[in-house]
Amino acid sequence: MALFLADCLQEDPGLVLGLPTGRTPVPMYRALVRLHRQGRVDFSRATTFNLDEFVGLPAEHPGTYRAFMERHLFAHVNLNPARTHVPHGDAASPRAEAARYEAMIAAAGGLDVAVIGIGGNGHIGFNEPAASLPAGTNGVTLRRASRAANAAAFGGQLARVPHRAISMGVGTILSARHVLLLATGADKADIVAKALRGPVTTRVPASLLQLHPRAAVILDRAAAKKLTSR
Ligand code: F6R
Repeated sequence: MALFLADCLQEDPGLVLGLPTGRTPVPMYRALVRLHRQGRVDFSRATTFNLDEFVGLPAEHPGTYRAFMERHLFAHVNLNPARTHVPHGDAASPRAEAARYEAMIAAAGGLDVAVIGIGGNGHIGFNEPAASLPAGTNGVTLRRASRAANAAAFGGQLARVPHRAISMGVGTILSARHVLLLATGADKADIVAKALRGPVTTRVPASLLQLHPRAAVILDRAAAKKLTSR
């Protein structure tokens, strides 16, 4: 995965990347940092947009996704800080911030490669299962399960995990020229099978990727184990 991104960056050093946080991409970030230290990947002209950010945390809070990205990638590679974007979760108006973020992605020419994870309920970014989903970057309300999955960054205390986030919309993600979905671990096996083999429905937001002409899915054996061949 990291090697694939390194190749993409070599081909197009000005790549615009969509990036996830969470448990799944940590090994990828570790590998990218290693490749950078070996002089095998150069981020100096790349631009990044993270998928999402919690609403209401002060900028210096260690639980923000900006802090996560600093810890796992930004502080260790030669990305230009001015070209690393994470929604401002402390903005006075999350709605205005979401519109600003969407406009910035458009101004950058859209995403070349969106790397995304999948929530246990099928969410992508923080687009939770629903009867309909916003296309563009928006303020969203987090499901309890999604908050629980993030509790570790808040001392294990669910009550401390924000209830709201700003997330790229499904349209923003699906407009990326390439989408790479990463999933690892047995706890993702059921939802991966639903997303890839089930009907396309906003009740399983990741199933919308079936509509994307250049979406790739990278799974470990455990996450792939409920996929049966057709
Ligand atoms: C995080 C994000 C989420 C995660 C998903 C999986 O920026 O957008 O959709 O990708 O919740 O999280 P992990 O990898 O922790 O299982």
